[in-house]
Amino acid sequence: MEPRKIVVLGSTGSIGRSTLEVVTNHPGQFEILALAAHSNTELLAEQYRRFRPRYVCVANPAKGRTLADSLKEEPVEVLTGESDLIRLAGLDTADLVVNAIVGAAGLRASLETVSKGKNLALANKESLVAGGPLFAAIMAKTKARILPIDSEHSALWQVLACGKADEIRRLILTASGGPFRDFPPEKFAEITPEMALRHPTWEMGPKITVDSATLANKGLEVIEAVALFSVPPENISVVIHPQSIIHSIVEFIDSSMVAQLSMPDMRLPITYALFWPKRVASGFGRLDIADVGKLTFEEPDLSRFPVLKTAYKAAQAGGTAPAVFNAANEIAVAAFLKESLAFNKIVDVIEDALYDLKVVSSPAIDDIIEADKKAREKARRKVGKLVCC
Ligand SMILES: NC(=O)c1ccc[n+]([C@@H]2O[C@H](COP(=O)([O-])OP(=O)(O)OC[C@H]3O[C@@H](n4cnc5c(N)ncnc54)[C@H](OP(=O)(O)O)[C@@H]3O)[C@@H](O)[C@H]2O)c1
Repeated sequence: MEPRKIVVLGSTGSIGRSTLEVVTNHPGQFEILALAAHSNTELLAEQYRRFRPRYVCVANPAKGRTLADSLKEEPVEVLTGESDLIRLAGLDTADLVVNAIVGAAGLRASLETVSKGKNLALANKESLVAGGPLFAAIMAKTKARILPIDSEHSALWQVLACGKADEIRRLILTASGGPFRDFPPEKFAEITPEMALRHPTWEMGPKITVDSATLANKGLEVIEAVALFSVPPENISVVIHPQSIIHSIVEFIDSSMVAQLSMPDMRLPITYALFWPKRVASGFGRLDIADVGKLTFEEPDLSRFPVLKTAYKAAQAGGTAPAVFNAANEIAVAAFLKESLAFNKIVDVIEDALYDLKVVSSPAIDDIIEADKKAREKARRKVGKLVCC
């Protein structure tokens, strides 16, 4: 079989690097056509030398010259800026595009991929959260598919093969509970970025690690599941499962629950998406279930993690509300990481952005971009008003 031709957007990040490991683990199965990142030109140049793609792109225009200089003797087209990155997202010769960009910055790229009728292996949950209402109509026309990489959605996707859409009662997303599951709530204001970046079970980029600590990540995943599986938010639950072995569960109408289990290793859902519709032998993460011993479950404590409740509100409101939730969260997390916002104030910034919001219920792309922009402005103002720590 011909190697599958893939584009990897966000190749220098945690998911991007794991994707390239999966490619390396399956010699001859993939050809990397293009690699793109934001500003890490050093790693991008190194990845170029290993995978020899036809194109590399840095979204940050100021970094373009550095990359072009370091690759000037090489037979590669060096592209810069968001519009070139979007061009790569719809590359004619690609069989599959992996979007591993972090944040709503990945939205236009995701839309471009599905608009061109290409299958999209999607880690960038924020693009589905912000732009959820836009995807279904485009994909119905172009027949493109979204192949989820997020481990919970990969689990649901695998489990949903056991039943039909009208046999689903409920989707249950599992959450590790993050590093502060048992942390005294009165000390939440003292949580530092260093503490929040120590996740108990997953190794991830900084933004999603903080999202996991506030449970905003689970909120984003509820909204992502609404968009991916057309299940309303009231039929999607979250359960805390600290071992991160069960990645999600579907409850069917006959009260059977079907779950997907594996080691918490992102290379597994990435492999599933890259090879879909086939399963292939993978050298990664075999699970010794006896060794795990105990799997436990508990309700999330919404008084401790109020962001999850806010995410449900945004999911229920639909339209542009999830884009606002996401944008305000991105600003709040960035401020927390810069130590200019206390951990327990992240929710206040998001609540403030959603307060009094006029929701556009069937938005066009411009409505979503506008909602995202205004939410960021409002969130920045709120961060400015809140006294840190
Ligand atoms: N990590 C995980 O285990 C995991 C699990 C499930 C889902 N996800 C989702 O996967 C996505 C990526 O997460 P991650 O943990 O891999 O993040 P990460 O380690 O921070 O990597 C982010 C990647 O996106 C690039 N990037 C950032 N801003 C960009 C922009 N404006 N335009 C183009 N590229 C940009 C970065 O480039 P530079 O390196 O040059 O800055 C980097 O390659 C997120 O949506 C996350 O929620 C991650």
